[in-house]
Amino acid sequence: MRRDITRIFLKPLWRLALCCWLLSACLQAQALPFEDSMAQRTLACTACHGPQGRSGPDGYYPRLAGKPAGYLYNQLVNLQQGRRNYPLMQSLLAPLDDAYLRALADYFAALEIPYPPPAPPSADKAVLARGLQLVRRGDLDLQIPACVQCHGTALTGTQPSVPGLLGLPRDYLNAQLGSWQNGQRQAQTPDCMADIAKRLSDADVHALSTWLSSQTVPLVSRATAQKPPLPPGAKEIRCGSAPW
Ligand code: HEC
Ligand code: HEC
Repeated sequence: MRRDITRIFLKPLWRLALCCWLLSACLQAQALPFEDSMAQRTLACTACHGPQGRSGPDGYYPRLAGKPAGYLYNQLVNLQQGRRNYPLMQSLLAPLDDAYLRALADYFAALEIPYPPPAPPSADKAVLARGLQLVRRGDLDLQIPACVQCHGTALTGTQPSVPGLLGLPRDYLNAQLGSWQNGQRQAQTPDCMADIAKRLSDADVHALSTWLSSQTVPLVSRATAQKPPLPPGAKEIRCGSAPW
């Protein structure tokens, strides 16, 4: 009898408690302000470019986080104006104005996300040695300048618009150098990277991408403020996208 009475009184009480809880949860959900942050607005971008633009799992979608703002902005303009081609992204960029492109570039440039460990080098020593030679000293006979001349001694890029070359997957490096060779990727004229890429043989592209992708990104991965001094004997090369 006692148990029946308890049940009769408690059942409605439980129901009431449940209703109150649901109601308060609903009210709380409604009270939460809609967060109109860049993190929210860029969810469409990070669907491909990985959380916070840390790059997709396979390296096909490039990393955005921490790249120099001027470089990212130039790429958004290049994509918008057809100097680089990726239709799925271009349709997203088409309606955006210049100020918004700058805001997107500034947002991703400011994100500090650790880099994944590099790929273990899979090539033989001669290939790696050729990659290292081109990166540090270039090849005078083939008129290939040293990559460090513009990308910085630590290869982390130079402000405001030369990107770093470490922490990029080998496939991505191959694809970008290949696109410059066949005209699919262009930068503002004079397009120094197109000239450099066209002087590289397939074997040299392979050597460069293999060596670069096997290096650890330094702890200080930000682009340096200034371009290093020209190595003795090297000539100044102008780049439309990086007016020094
Ligand atoms: C459908 C997938 C997809 C979406 C969505 C997307 N991107 Fe991309 N994005 C790519 C791919 C693929 C590339 C590389 C294209 C190439 O190889 O030239 C790229 C390249 C870029 C680059 C050049 C990166 C570099 O290092 O050179 C920037 C900057 C960029 N995207 C920013 C954005 C922003 C900002 C958004 C959101 C407004 C966005 N992307 C949305 C797939 C996407
Ligand atoms: C004269 C200056 C200069 C030299 C030397 C140079 N680069 Fe570049 N590089 C640039 C500039 C400027 C950009 C950005 C181009 C743009 O805005 O699209 C760039 C971009 C790149 C990119 C694209 C990176 C990305 O995230 O998409 C790759 C890859 C690259 N360079 C590889 C090399 C290699 C390899 C060498 C050496 C053989 C080299 N570069 C030498 C100026 C230079």
